[in-house]
Amino acid sequence: MSIRIFLYNKNMENTPYYRTLLPAARALLKGETDPIANAANLAALLFNTLPGLNWAGFYRWKDGQLVLGPFQGKPACVRILPGKGVCGTAAQTRQTVLVPDVHAFEGHIACDAASRSEIVVPVIQNGTLWGVLDMDSPLLARFNETDRKYLEELVQFFVSACRF
Ligand code: SME
Repeated sequence: MSIRIFLYNKNMENTPYYRTLLPAARALLKGETDPIANAANLAALLFNTLPGLNWAGFYRWKDGQLVLGPFQGKPACVRILPGKGVCGTAAQTRQTVLVPDVHAFEGHIACDAASRSEIVVPVIQNGTLWGVLDMDSPLLARFNETDRKYLEELVQFFVSACRF
């Protein structure tokens, strides 16, 4: 019997994970255009591929607010108003929001008290906000510019793969 112990070093280069993740995402979404099915599979892929996460998933923009979509992790807040929390800020500004320390982000919505850092990427299709991709970590400063780059690329791919 072998025991594998994985230690995540937050300073380590994240690129190797994304080198695995991006081709896997392409294979997973191939031939499927349903946004909910694809978002569900991407949430599962992210959660199970990237180390140091406690939540990965989507909120959809619906009737002027964010509504919980496919995710992996603990149950989360269902509705978030524009401008509220990290997700509402990303939705309102249509920019990726990278939060190294959620305790230092005024208005952060703590769905899971264990979360210490977060990244939220807006999902925009043809100029229209579809929702956001949200990832949380129990580690301080888990996400960096490498995550921003590859997650924005992943979201672009998601948008191009789906029929909305
Ligand atoms: N922390 C988020 C809320 C969503 S949960 O993290 C899943 C925020 O401040 O918007």
